Amino acid sequence: MIKIQPVRGTHDLFGDDLIKYKFIEKTISILAHYYDFDEIITPIFEHSKLFEKHLGTNSDVVLKEMYSFEDRNKKRLTLRPEYTTPMIRAAISNNLLNHLPAKLFSTGPMFRRERPQKGRYRQFSQINFEIFGTNDTHSDCELILLANDFLKKLKLNKYIKLHLNSLGDPNTLQKYKKLLKDYFQKYHDDLSEESKSKIKLNPLRILDSKDRNDIEISNSAPKINTLYTKEAIKNFDSIQQTLIDSGIVFQKDHNLVRGLDYYCHTVFEFKTDKLGSQNTIIGGGRYDGLIRSLGGPDLPGVGWAGGIERLMMMIDHIKNDPPLIQLIILDEKSKNYGLEILSKLRKHKIKCRHTYKYNLKKSLKLANDSKIKYALIVGENEITINKYTLKDLVKGTQKSLELNELIKVLK
Ligand code: HAM
Repeated sequence: MIKIQPVRGTHDLFGDDLIKYKFIEKTISILAHYYDFDEIITPIFEHSKLFEKHLGTNSDVVLKEMYSFEDRNKKRLTLRPEYTTPMIRAAISNNLLNHLPAKLFSTGPMFRRERPQKGRYRQFSQINFEIFGTNDTHSDCELILLANDFLKKLKLNKYIKLHLNSLGDPNTLQKYKKLLKDYFQKYHDDLSEESKSKIKLNPLRILDSKDRNDIEISNSAPKINTLYTKEAIKNFDSIQQTLIDSGIVFQKDHNLVRGLDYYCHTVFEFKTDKLGSQNTIIGGGRYDGLIRSLGGPDLPGVGWAGGIERLMMMIDHIKNDPPLIQLIILDEKSKNYGLEILSKLRKHKIKCRHTYKYNLKKSLKLANDSKIKYALIVGENEITINKYTLKDLVKGTQKSLELNELIKVLK
C-alpha cells in the first residue's frame, strides 16, 4: 500500500515542538492583553483579489507563491499568504474602524508556495499585530517595544538584532525605485539571474539578495535617505530618538526593504545569525495608503508579523515535562482502587501516568525511561493497610504513606 506523505513544506506538530508553539502563543496573548490589543481571527481563505492587488503585482508572493483555486461557483480564492490585508479587510467589513486607533492582533497559519528549506515552509504560522488610524510615531515605537518585550520573554533577545530603515513617503519610494533601476541596469551582466529578472519589476528586492556579488553591487547602490522629504526625516528622527530613550538597541540599515509592496516610512526587522539564510524572525512597518486602497477610509496603519516556527527553532528551554508520578497496579483486583487514587491525585493538579500494564518490572522500566520521578505502587497489600507505596526512582528509596502524606510529599 502507498504510504501518504505530508505535503512538502508542511509539518505535523507534536511533542516538545507543540509545547513550544503553545508557549509562544500563550506568551504573546498575555503581552497583547497588557498592550491593549484585541484578538481577531479571520478565515484562512479570502477572495484572491485581496492579495493580488495589494501585496504588489510584482512581489514574489503574488507572482509565484500563492495557493489559489477556483471553487465550484468559479470564485477565485486564495489561502492567506499574510495577515495584514485580511485584518484590514475584516476591520472594514465589521466596522472596527469607528473607534480609533484600532489595535488588533492574531495568530494562525499562512500559506506560501516557496522552496522549502530550514525555517521556510509552505504552511507556517504568524503572530500579527496591527495599529490602524494613527500617524503618531509612538505607535511605530510601541510595536517595536512590544516585539522587544516578547523576544525578552522568550529569552531570545541576546540572539536577535533590530534593523531599522525608513522608505520615506510613497512618492520618495517611486523615485527611489527609478534610481535603483538605472543603477542596477548598469551592472546587469554581473548580477545573479534572479536579480537580473528583478531590475525592471522590483529593483528594491535586489537589495535583499543573498548572492555575494549582488550584495557587493548593492552596497554601492544609491541610498534612499538621499531622497527623504523633510517630513520623512522628522518622522524617522523621532522614531530613532524614542527608541534610544527607551533603551532599544537598533542598527540603521538603508538597504532594508520589505518583500511586500505596501510599505512606506518605517520598516524594521528583527534578525538573527542563528538560523542560516532564513534569518528574519519578525518583520513589519508602516503602510499608510493600504487601508484606503482596500476600500476603507483614508487611515494610516503600522504593524508587524513574526514567524512562530522560526521562534520555535531558537527556543530550547521549553520542554514537555514528564508526569511527576506513574501509577503501577500490581494485579487485576486492585485496578479500580488504583484508578480511584489516580483521580484524587489529579484533583490536586498532580500530573500522573497510567500505562495499563500490570507488571512491576516492566512498569518501573517505562517510568525510568520517561524520567518520571515517582512510582506509586498499588496492590492487595496496600489496599489491606489503606496506604500507598511511593518509590522515589531517583533516590531509589521507598515509603508507605497515607493519602494526605502522599499528597504532601508530591506537592
Ligand atoms: P513577512 O516578512 O512576509 O511580513 O513575514 C513575517 C514573518 O513571517 C517573517 O519574518 C518570518 O518569520 C515568517 N515567515 C514568512 N515566510 C515564511 C515561511 N515561508 N516559512 C516560515 N516562516 C515564514 C508579513 O507577512 C507582513 N504582513 C508583516 C506585517 C504586518 N507588516 C505590517 N504588518
